Amino acid sequence: MKKAVCKVEDVPVGRMHPVDLEGLPPVVIFNLDGKYYATSNICTHAVARLSDGFFEDGQIECPLHSGCFDVKTGEATEFPCEIPLQTFNIEVDGDNLVVEFVVS
Ligand code: FES
Repeated sequence: MKKAVCKVEDVPVGRMHPVDLEGLPPVVIFNLDGKYYATSNICTHAVARLSDGFFEDGQIECPLHSGCFDVKTGEATEFPCEIPLQTFNIEVDGDNLVVEFVVS
């Protein structure tokens, strides 16, 4: 299911933007050098919101124990994170950013 989650202008270059929509998993949108990526906003190590952490050099650092993930792939790149983050397809549609949610 594809859903418009925010405006392009909500996510400037180098920034991230959390999205919480009722009935859908919390996601965070990243703008890495003008390209958009979307991942789960919940750390796979414990329950922390990644959008409260730090986004730098294509990595999101968790605010709780400083584990890291690659925002492009969701790969865990820094201890204590080992389980990858779920990633979502994202596209630009006019002024909107549209995320494809996988409904199981
Ligand atoms: Fe994210 Fe521990 S909860 S690194």
